[in-house]
Amino acid sequence: MKIAMIGTGYVGLVSGVCFSDFGHDIVCVDKDPRKIEMLERGEVPIFEPGLDRLMAKNVEAGRLTFTRDLKAAITGADAVFIAVGTPTRRGDGHADLTYVMAAAEEIAKAADHYMVIVTKSTVPVGTNRKVAEVVRAANPELDFDVASNPEFLREGAAIDDFMKPDRVVVGVQTDRAAKVMEEIYRPLYLRDFPIVTTDLESAEMIKYAANAFLATKITFINEIAALCEKVGADVKMVSKGMGMDGRIGNKFLHAGPGYGGSCFPKDTKALARIGQEHAVPMQITEAVIKVNEEVKRRMIDKLRDLCGGSFNGKTIAVLGVTFKPNTDDMRDAPSLTIVPALVGGGAKVRVTDPQGRHEGEALLPGVIWEPDPYAAAAHADLLVILTEWNEFRALDLARIANGMSTRRMADLRNIYSAEDAAEAGFDAYDSIGRQGHGTDLSA
Ligand SMILES: NC(=O)c1ccc[n+]([C@@H]2O[C@H](COP(=O)([O-])OP(=O)(O)OC[C@H]3O[C@@H](n4cnc5c(N)ncnc54)[C@H](O)[C@@H]3O)[C@@H](O)[C@H]2O)c1
Repeated sequence: MKIAMIGTGYVGLVSGVCFSDFGHDIVCVDKDPRKIEMLERGEVPIFEPGLDRLMAKNVEAGRLTFTRDLKAAITGADAVFIAVGTPTRRGDGHADLTYVMAAAEEIAKAADHYMVIVTKSTVPVGTNRKVAEVVRAANPELDFDVASNPEFLREGAAIDDFMKPDRVVVGVQTDRAAKVMEEIYRPLYLRDFPIVTTDLESAEMIKYAANAFLATKITFINEIAALCEKVGADVKMVSKGMGMDGRIGNKFLHAGPGYGGSCFPKDTKALARIGQEHAVPMQITEAVIKVNEEVKRRMIDKLRDLCGGSFNGKTIAVLGVTFKPNTDDMRDAPSLTIVPALVGGGAKVRVTDPQGRHEGEALLPGVIWEPDPYAAAAHADLLVILTEWNEFRALDLARIANGMSTRRMADLRNIYSAEDAAEAGFDAYDSIGRQGHGTDLSA
């Protein structure tokens, strides 16, 4: 199959590279000249483990190219995928469909033969029908179908998720479109990965329902964690005991500093908005959005308590600023709420992250970037573990503690324990959903 992929972000680039690895001919299009120049030089604009090698392999095989020229990319294409951003629209929480509709119109104006126009971006219910209207208005003669093909990959594990998905969801209106989509995903179908074929609206809804559910699961355990701290329970044990129940499952039950990232915050807001527009308020999702904001605020209180009531004049080392490990994505990361509160409270903040600096420098003004956790923690009054990168899981805690002015740790990912901290010489340790040892670890 010949496929054009519009948008070379986290989803478009991974999808394009993986489709080319299936054996399809892929042209990836982006309007950002910097990205296309980098890709043409063989450089990957984002950090995603394994993507550079897979991209190089398929470029070399002649199945994968990059361009800014959308018309050239869709010439002879069987399908064109729209994988552009759908950020939160300013002011009302709705998904901003400007980029999707602009791409649809560009495709329509450039197309001159039958193709399936597939929306991979996460879009509100009804958007694929609107895409069809936009295309029809811009090119009334064009023979085309639309299809909804939401993406479920996770940054940091994107290639595996794309190549070995739990399921592929395809929403179509015609058999002709279904056949094209079947052909595109044939390599997965042959390996028995389930393909769920639905109508357009159900496919669009599946994506929002899935993300809102996952955000709810995280937020639920974060709320339970807050209660655990008060009643003396340990949320790690609670998660384990809950997660062993097959009806619940152990994924997304790790308490932490609140969800962030490029999807959950915007998709929960968009679902809430869709509910309001249809007079069916998504009350659970609305509560999740509110509680998640409270979780982040609670983290700031926790850090302030560890600093003796004020950040002013304190030096604070922050390990990890990306919203999760194995990505350089900073969109809606909890660090963007927590770190400015430290800086604003008068702390000197020293930050380290294996991949976050490139994006993070502009987003976190007033912090000092350090090359590693040991440099960040030197002479600090508080160590904060904010993202659970593997690099932070086996630190020489005694070395860290020795270099600090005041030996206090806020482990917001529950990587360590109060015992680990005490053994390493820390005087205070707090984590999530376990009783804090804010003043005296020997107590
Ligand atoms: N990031 C994820 O983990 C993830 C997972 C599943 C679904 N999604 C969804 O996929 C969509 C894309 O997300 P992303 O994180 O890849 O976004 P992104 O912001 O990383 O990338 C979007 C790209 O599209 C390009 N673009 C925009 N308009 C264009 C046009 N008219 N022509 C050519 N290029 C254009 C931009 O320059 C940018 O490079 C969103 O709807 C998102 O919700 C994202």
